[in-house]
Formats: sequence, C-alpha cells, structure tokens
Amino acid sequence: MSGLFITLEGPEGAGKSTNRDYLAERLRTHGVDCVLTREPGGTPLAERVRELLLAPSDETMAADTELLLVFAARAQHLAQVIRPALARGAVVLCDRFTDATYAYQGGGRGLDRARIAQLETFVQADLRPDLTLVFDLPVEIGLSRAAARGRLDRFEQEAATFFEAVRRTYLQRAAAEPGRYRILDAAQPLDQVQAALDALLPDLLEGCRG
Ligand SMILES: Nc1ncnc2c1ncn2[C@@H]1O[C@H](COP(=O)(O)OP(=O)(O)O)[C@@H](O)[C@H]1O
Ligand SMILES: [Mg+2]
Repeated sequence: MSGLFITLEGPEGAGKSTNRDYLAERLRTHGVDCVLTREPGGTPLAERVRELLLAPSDETMAADTELLLVFAARAQHLAQVIRPALARGAVVLCDRFTDATYAYQGGGRGLDRARIAQLETFVQADLRPDLTLVFDLPVEIGLSRAAARGRLDRFEQEAATFFEAVRRTYLQRAAAEPGRYRILDAAQPLDQVQAALDALLPDLLEGCRG
C-alpha cells in the first residue's frame, strides 16, 4: 500500500493553510485517511527548528545554515510523520515542502540549485510529491494578507524582490514539470479557489484508490 503525497506551495498569504484544511475536509467526507502537516515543522523537534528559522534575530543567519536547518527539519518530518503515513496508505497534505526550498533558499537567497538537489536526494532518496498545488498570486496581495495576520517573521520581513524571485521559481518549476503541478490563481475570491480544488477532487480520489 502506498498513499498519496500532496504538497501545497506559494508565498505567504496565498491560502495554503486554509485550502489544505478545506481539501482534507472534502477528502474525509469520502472516507479518505488524511494527515495534515506543514514545513518547516510537523514534529515537535522539527517545530523547534522552525522557530529557529522564523525568529527574527540580531545575528544574521548564513544562507547555508538556513538551507541545512530546513533539510534537518525535513529529515525528522519524513522519518516521524510523512513516510509512516504514506506507508499505511494515507493522503499526506503538507503545507510547503522542498519546492519551497528551491523557491526561498534557491530563488530568494540565490543558493545554487544543484546544491539543493544534492540535499534533496540525500534526505528524500527518491521520494517526491505526487502532486504539488501552487497557490499563485501577485506579491503585494500575499504580503498584505500576511501583514494582516500580525507580526512578520524572518522571511516575511524580506523585500518584495525576494518574493518576486520566490514566485518566479515556483512558476518555473511548475512549467518544467507540468505533470506534477497544478497552478491555482490564489488572487481569486476564496470560493473560486475552492471550486478549482473541487474540480481536482475526482482525480485525487482516483489516485487514492489507485
Ligand atoms: N482567495 C482568498 N481571498 C481572500 N483571502 C484569502 C484567500 N485565501 C486565503 N485568504 C485569507 O488570507 C489569509 C492567509 O491565508 P492562509 O491560508 O493562512 O495563507 P498561507 O497559509 O498561504 O500563508 C487568511 O486570513 C485567509 O483567510
Ligand atoms: Mg499557512
């Protein structure tokens, strides 16, 4: 038995968490075993690493430190949560995964993509998401939604150019591997985004049985 690994990607305020919960609710009404999780984080130890990554600090975090912390948290999350859930046949809905590393640490921070790919193989072996939903929206809209939530974390404090690079990277990755990605227009009203998710549901349910 093997489950289905679905990741949700996009900038701050794109609606990843809201729509992860929505998708889980829809799948559960069809009797699907869903595990909801997020990155960085997803286990108590990985959540502590998340706090290190997100907390604004006087000490500048070197980009390599950031990259290694992201993958350290991911190794723990895979071992404790993602691999066991997939092994029992569950659908894992993960708010951010390695596409976010390519987008933030690669696109945003400018780290070499090949180095990220090496760590991806080291930590994940051949595990990749079955489906990645990219919630795409103009940078200003995402930032204003994130700002409305309150205090900005270490990433949210970055300049608009950082987020333009993040967005561009997501779209480039989706274009390069269209089979794995679905791009959703996250600037639409929420009910329209959710209608687009509903349209994906028959395929997802097929995949769960498949
Ligand atoms: N399509 C949408 N239109 C308007 N507001 C939205 C939409 N999707 C999400 N929101 C709101 O934007 C905020 C951020 O959503 P959230 O799901 O937390 O985004 P993310 O997890 O991607 O940062 C929340 O207040 C949410 O209710
Ligand atoms: Mg969120």
